[in-house]
Amino acid sequence: MISESHLDLAIKDLFQNIQFQDAPKGLYDPLRYMIAIGGKRLRPRLCLTAFSLYRDTIGPEILEPAAGLEVFHTFTLIHDDIMDRSAMRRGQDTVWKKWSQDTAILSGDVMCIDSYRRLIQAPAPVLPAVLALFSKTAAEVCDGQQLDMDFENLDVVPMADYMQMIGLKTAVLIACSAQMGAIIAGAPQEESRAIYAYGYDLGLAFQVADDYLDAYGDAAVFGKPIGGDIVNNKKSWLTVKAMECGAKGLQEALGLPAETPEQKAHKIATVKAVYESLDIPALARKEIAALHRSAIDKLQGFDAQKREIMEGFAHKLVGRTV
Ligand code: IPE
Ligand code: IPE
Ligand code: MG
Ligand code: MG
Ligand code: MG
Repeated sequence: MISESHLDLAIKDLFQNIQFQDAPKGLYDPLRYMIAIGGKRLRPRLCLTAFSLYRDTIGPEILEPAAGLEVFHTFTLIHDDIMDRSAMRRGQDTVWKKWSQDTAILSGDVMCIDSYRRLIQAPAPVLPAVLALFSKTAAEVCDGQQLDMDFENLDVVPMADYMQMIGLKTAVLIACSAQMGAIIAGAPQEESRAIYAYGYDLGLAFQVADDYLDAYGDAAVFGKPIGGDIVNNKKSWLTVKAMECGAKGLQEALGLPAETPEQKAHKIATVKAVYESLDIPALARKEIAALHRSAIDKLQGFDAQKREIMEGFAHKLVGRTV
């Protein structure tokens, strides 16, 4: 086992050591910028936490792949912000906004490739398993992002389709991060599979929380402007649930124009009033708690010490949203 303070130090070190090629600066400066502005770093932390269940020391065999997970995640954010027309991320301008869309495309591409260069530093005996898991996950994230965009143009999205979409765009990378730590540590296969299942449900909880906070969070903490999903007609958990409850006036509210700042504010307030008329925010908090519990349930076969560590991680991640 590795203590939490030791993990904190390892994460700090890991981020200080994420370097990119110097030139062309137009290509690599956005990568440095995105890593420098931070983020919660939950995926490398989860990877190291799962690794720490089986090992007493942290070395490059886990640090480089863990860094690869964060680099990959950050690449998905750069492209996601183009697709979602988001101007703010981690409390700062997004890459397309600060540079240009062309820069965001190419810097994102090279960042994705960079993540593989870190991943392949996993120990040779587990490298095929690590690469298979990672490549499968990366393709699934693209599948999820396509569904997310497709759903913008649909009037009605069933809850089961929404859950499948967030499973792909968000949960698989969180599950992969957890399982990668277990695989590199040499965990028994059954535990490695359970850790994936835990990460997947935790990822679902995390995305429902992200949807909830997009409408009801504090912009200063969330790092993104409140109401972006409503402005962009995103099918968030809140929208899908409101449809399921037969919300009156939701289609009209979602159809409101959102070009000017005044129109945006009006649309956000109108849609939120529909949510509140049906108690959707409280239902979202319940759903996050249920998915959180479901993640913890996947740890039943683990000894008490391991379970406590993974439960602690889940609690820190989603236990405080509600
Ligand atoms: C944002 O991920 C994208 C989602 C899956 C909701 P994070 O909320 O982990 O973003 P950072 O890395 O902390 O900025
Ligand atoms: C992000 O989903 C999922 C990926 C980046 C793959 P969102 O679009 O909800 O994430 P935010 O809200 O922009 O962080
Ligand atoms: Mg998105
Ligand atoms: Mg987005
Ligand atoms: Mg979001």
